[in-house]
Amino acid sequence: MRVDLVLANWELFLGGVWMTVQLTGLALLIGFCIAIPFGIIRANKVPVWSQLINAYVYAFRGTPLLVQLFLIYFGLAQFDFVRESWAWVFLRDAWWCALIAFALNSGAYATEIIRGAVATTPKGEIEGARALGLSRWQVYALVLLPSALRRALPQYGNEVVFMLHGSAVASIITIQDILGAGRTLNARYYVAYEGFLTAALLYMAITFLLVMIFRQLERRYLRHLAL
Ligand code: ARG
Repeated sequence: MRVDLVLANWELFLGGVWMTVQLTGLALLIGFCIAIPFGIIRANKVPVWSQLINAYVYAFRGTPLLVQLFLIYFGLAQFDFVRESWAWVFLRDAWWCALIAFALNSGAYATEIIRGAVATTPKGEIEGARALGLSRWQVYALVLLPSALRRALPQYGNEVVFMLHGSAVASIITIQDILGAGRTLNARYYVAYEGFLTAALLYMAITFLLVMIFRQLERRYLRHLAL
């Protein structure tokens, strides 16, 4: 074990942690913003829109994240109209391709989580709010969504951890994330265990942190369920 190599290259791993946290965090944020409207539309079975969103969810949950990343990073570059469009500034860049793939992927998973939470809101909560004279929008903003988001918390905590781990595929398209740092160590010094074990421990540490955060959130917001 050449632990000294890991220590000598600590900046590589620090940069990797920052890259992983940044990509995962942004992807989750965008995915969440996609999932709120999409999940509500799906829960209400809005004609046409619901089917279109269902197709999106099916496509992104039905294929591996790595395949989606390859389609966006390698696939799109093949088309002239893509290379000649304004979007090429982003699509030629590995970081943007990873962000797009991760955000769309997380959006699909989160849509299903939100759909489930909205669809299973107890009828009494909605009827009570309506009886108090709240408008349709008020019912959503003040009663239904807060209630649904609380109940979605455990599943969403899972999504956050899965996305963190899934983001490791970014290293395959040259992104220097946590796994990328391990791969760089491997390539530079021809040592494998040192870098990859460090990467594993770093992912584990972040996961542990996330689990603690979600445990606290669940304690606070799901107290009535006696978790
Ligand atoms: N291994 C999974 C895949 O290849 C990771 C995707 C997880 N993504 C998520 N948003 N939960 O598809």
